[in-house]
Amino acid sequence: MSDNDSSLPALPWFARSGARTWRCEPVPADVRDFHRTLPGYSPTPLRELPELAEELGVGRVFVKDESSRLGLPAFKALGASWAVHRTLAERAARTGERVPVTLVTATDGNHGRAVARTARLLGQHAHVFVPRGVHPEAVAAIAGEGAEVSRVEGPYDEAVRRAAAAAERPDAVLVQDTAWPGYERIPGWIVEGYSTLCAEVDEQLAAAGAVEGPTLVAVPVGVGSLAQAVVTHYRSRSADQGPALLAVEPEVAACVLQSLAAGEPVSVATGDTTMAGLNCGTPSSIAWPYLYGGLDAAIAVSDAAGARAAADLAALGVSSGPCGAASLAGLRAALTGVGADERRTALGLETSSVVVLLSTEGTAANPHAVD
Ligand SMILES: Cc1ncc(COP(=O)(O)O)c(C=O)c1O
Repeated sequence: MSDNDSSLPALPWFARSGARTWRCEPVPADVRDFHRTLPGYSPTPLRELPELAEELGVGRVFVKDESSRLGLPAFKALGASWAVHRTLAERAARTGERVPVTLVTATDGNHGRAVARTARLLGQHAHVFVPRGVHPEAVAAIAGEGAEVSRVEGPYDEAVRRAAAAAERPDAVLVQDTAWPGYERIPGWIVEGYSTLCAEVDEQLAAAGAVEGPTLVAVPVGVGSLAQAVVTHYRSRSADQGPALLAVEPEVAACVLQSLAAGEPVSVATGDTTMAGLNCGTPSSIAWPYLYGGLDAAIAVSDAAGARAAADLAALGVSSGPCGAASLAGLRAALTGVGADERRTALGLETSSVVVLLSTEGTAANPHAVD
């Protein structure tokens, strides 16, 4: 069941009406308080870029800059820290003692490093499975956190299967940032952890005088856990109409766009992309209802578009890796070319609109060339 409003099959784009009034329950209030207790926590910057507002024909554009989050060059530590905290607390409550555990995960870079860092800080072990296509420096960074690293000669979904199998030991626990039927609690905590990013944006927009909040938020999407957090944040409020939410994926791994078009979650065969963190073929099972209900639109972009966006952000003083810059690449693609007016209308954008682009990683996270 597809209600794709676009009459342009050439552009990988999907839009649906009604998402802005869809509603869900909020996340627990204690997540932000937990992050505040972590050493090195401080809100990441929300940078206003008037040059982009002019280019895109909107009122104000802000970029949430996740190039340095809890000492790592991507947003992922927000989810890993909260999920590991909850997991270890629960194990301790069950067994009555805190025995060392191996935190196992699969990653296309950032999540694995965040789990490895969290394990190191808490005196635990980490075992991280890495699929093909992850930049060698990103792999080295995971090993540099003291984790055991296993390379998998397959795509991300295969690495997830290998990690799940390796975690089937009493002294191990799978800390995965995607869910499937039967494995949903820990991924749910990871999504809760990401909520801190959205809470910070609220405060920062208010401080910048954008008290009405955003008109549009653009989110880079892999399995959709971050997008689930964003949907939860904006769709659990009482306001009549929340912002439009736009998902951006690589053309070679557009599993959420394909799923939205199909009206049900589908897996896609993934290819090679510099947007390593977005190179995922299957939406998270717990994310799907939120993505289906709460996303206004999805678009897929090429590596070239992502590289151009990253270079442009660099020129404006924002360190943004290929995944982080996907937000800008996706919005640009939506607002240019044949059918742009139709897509602008679907996103509810006007010349006074406030846009937030989530730049989820810095160049250090995923050092593919940006030009
Ligand atoms: C930098 C970056 N941005 C965005 C994402 C997408 O997050 P999700 O897989 O939750 O959709 C990832 C996931 O690894 C990432 O590393």
